[in-house]
Formats: sequence, structure tokens, C-alpha cells
Amino acid sequence: MDVVICRSYEELSKAAARVVADLVTHKPNAVLGFATGSSPVGLYKELARLHREEGLDFSKVTTFNLDEYVGLPADHPQSYRRFMNEHLFNHINVTVQNTHVPSGTATSPKAFCEGYEKQIRDAGGIDLQVLGIGSDGHIAFNEPGSSLGSRTRRVTLTEQTLDDNARFFKKKSDVPRHAISMGVGTILEARRLLMVVNGESKAPALAAAIEGPITSMITASALQLHPDAVVFVDDDAAAQLKMRDYYEWIQKQAKAGD
Ligand code: F6R
Repeated sequence: MDVVICRSYEELSKAAARVVADLVTHKPNAVLGFATGSSPVGLYKELARLHREEGLDFSKVTTFNLDEYVGLPADHPQSYRRFMNEHLFNHINVTVQNTHVPSGTATSPKAFCEGYEKQIRDAGGIDLQVLGIGSDGHIAFNEPGSSLGSRTRRVTLTEQTLDDNARFFKKKSDVPRHAISMGVGTILEARRLLMVVNGESKAPALAAAIEGPITSMITASALQLHPDAVVFVDDDAAAQLKMRDYYEWIQKQAKAGD
């Protein structure tokens, strides 16, 4: 796993956006996996800038999002579809029909989830999956105890996630208790994983995920099983990494062309 420690959230966001942009430049019909939440907002802002100012072309790109709250229609202010439209899709030239966010209102969630997996397969699989990490160590909404082989399914959110996400809603009781989430197994099939992590509240979860044992109690630890995962971390989130000097040494050598 590559761990890239950045001095600021802005630097982290630009570096992560560069990885996405390089892929889209070399493979214009790339299949991108996206996450929502605060962590990738800067990355999306930078992708929008690259489109606007440097003509980065998303017209042939297909996208799949990780998750959606059960019960929220696409046009709900806190739906993840709305989040993606507002933070990215409305600002780039992606074809709306090629953007996929799980439906939170499917009458049969099970059939929907199987269909979502099939759509990903039919698109040729995900080339690059963007991830954040929850303070309980989750990726997507794969809460502690989720099988590392799990597939897209309906999940129940933990109390911790409800607390963390209450900031986006008027009150905690408005946060949906369930979500449709890609599984850890689904995520691991992406050809490349890119995680963005910022802020001191993420430091314990990040250290557990990348330096602790692989465990379903910290589903982000599954990144250790992936042959091509890169994690962009800001200074605050890197605070509890034991191997920090080593990661920085590797980056220094990479910059020097070693
Ligand atoms: C959202 C998602 C979640 C978030 C995580 C961190 O699509 O998959 O795993 O990445 O909860 O959220 P933020 O970035 O808001 O701290």
C-alpha cells in the first residue's frame, strides 16, 4: 500500500485528483467509483477545476457510487445522489445516464443490489475506486463485523456513524438507520483503490486500518489485501502512524526518481 502524507487538505485533494485525472486522460472511458462525505469534497472541487480550466474530459466516463441512505429519494437534500450532483456531476461533462448511485427507495433492495453488482460487471469493473474512512474504520457503509467478502446489500448503520453523520441533518433522529452499500468484496475487485483521509478524528481509525491486523472490525483494513491501493493522508490524520517516517522516506525517494 502506498501512503502519501500531505501537508494540508488542499495538497491532499490536489494529489488525489491528479491520480483520477491521469487515469481519465489515459483511459477516457474509465469506470470510476466515487464516495460521498466530507473527505473527497476537495478532490471533487479540483476535478471540476481541471475540467473547467484544463478541459479534462469526462464525456466517456462511467461512475458508480459506494452507497446511499435507505428511504431517501434521489432529490432529497441529504441523498448521496444529490451530493454527487452538487459537488461533482453538475460541474463536469459526465453523461448523467452513465452515473450510478444506489437507489435508497428500491421496492426490492435485494434485487436492486444484485442488479447494481451486474451493472458494475457489465461496465467492465471499476478501474479506480475513491474511498473515505469512517471514524469506526468503515469503508462505504461496511460497518464493523461486515464480511470482508461482502457484496452490495442493505446494511444497518452503527450508532457511531449515526452520530458522525448527524451533522448533515437537522437532528440525529433524521439520519436514516439503513443504507445500501457496496460490499468489501465488491470494493476489493476495483483495479485500484484511492483513499483520502483528513483530520485528527480519523487518526485512530487510519492507524488501525493500515498498520493493524486485517479484521472485519475495521473494514478499511481490507485495503491491505489489495495489490494497488494508495492512501492520501493529511498531517492530522497521520498523527498515529507508527511507520510515518518510513512512508515519508519512500515518497522522498519516489520524488527523487529512485
Ligand atoms: C460515503 C462513504 C463513507 C465515508 C466515511 C467518511 O460514501 O462511503 O464510508 O467515506 O463515512 O465520511 P466523511 O468523509 O464525511 O468523514
